[in-house]
Amino acid sequence: MTIHFELNGRKATWEVEPGETLLDALRRHEITSVKNGCDTASCSTCTVLLDGKPVPSCAVPVCRVDGHAVMTVEGVPETARRLGELLAAEGADQCGFCSPGLVMSVVAMTDEMDDPSDAEINAYLSGNMCRCSGYVSQTRAIRKYLEVKS
Ligand code: FES
Ligand code: FES
Repeated sequence: MTIHFELNGRKATWEVEPGETLLDALRRHEITSVKNGCDTASCSTCTVLLDGKPVPSCAVPVCRVDGHAVMTVEGVPETARRLGELLAAEGADQCGFCSPGLVMSVVAMTDEMDDPSDAEINAYLSGNMCRCSGYVSQTRAIRKYLEVKS
């Protein structure tokens, strides 16, 4: 089937397969920032924004984005660069596999919350799994990102 939607601020028209997930369709179209960490909506490495809300793209049939707006980390390069630098500086960026999904969750969080506490940051990002770094260094990096951003 053919779908028409907005991808990272630009109109897109894709041919997609019945039953194909948004994650698979994005990667098939070379949006490879979106990672498959579990394929069961459990790890958030595949997080994208759908009409501004974070969703696990592995659990979204791509046909459902017809007429909607999808944002991936390719659509927020400045945020990704700044957060990436801070994550690296805090020792929170090791293999980096979780980072694109984490960045998109942080984008959603900052859209929803003005001045989150560390507890609120940790609660909001509790679904974003990281196999490498532990979460304290991530929280430090995100706190610094929020301080510079405000
Ligand atoms: S790959 Fe989608 S939540 Fe893990
Ligand atoms: S840095 Fe490796 S999974 Fe998070």
